[in-house]
Amino acid sequence: MSRIAVCPGSFDPVTLGHLDIITRASSLFDHVIVLVSVNMQKSNFSFSLDERKNMIRSVTVDIPNVTVESFDGLLADYVKQVGAIAIVKGLRAVSDFEYEFQMALANKKLYDGAETVFLTTSAENMYLSSSVVKQIASFGGDISHFVPEQILDDIRKRLVKEK
Ligand code: PNS
Repeated sequence: MSRIAVCPGSFDPVTLGHLDIITRASSLFDHVIVLVSVNMQKSNFSFSLDERKNMIRSVTVDIPNVTVESFDGLLADYVKQVGAIAIVKGLRAVSDFEYEFQMALANKKLYDGAETVFLTTSAENMYLSSSVVKQIASFGGDISHFVPEQILDDIRKRLVKEK
């Protein structure tokens, strides 16, 4: 039986930190579904759902066991629907922990058939987040160390403010 993991997030936009977690998850599971999901605490997205999915597709094109989907319901329902055995998330720092712990417990309560697996973020990505990338890009800063090369131009075009 194929061991499926779901890697959920907003991915607005996908960063090298996300890509690191997705790549490592792809070597642990038979199939990884990167799931662009709804976060009710975030509503002002810089990129549309299709743009976010296409950016993830373009940076994971060389990883054969990764697919990209979206879902606007409960993560636990999606995980059950596709028969996944794990939800994979990256943990950057202690500051992530409380929120992630709460979500992991809630998801387990909603669906007992999958475990949340935390991968520690690589040291070079500890400080990285989509919002940091957006702030730096909007002020014309260099984001080439933070996002995959394939989507650099897409992000710059959208976010760099005209002077
Ligand atoms: O990248 P983010 O925004 O930190 O990811 C959070 C996300 C999208 C994974 C989380 O908000 C989520 O799982 N949303 C789906 C809706 C859901 O199931 N909410 C309850 C989680 S306990």
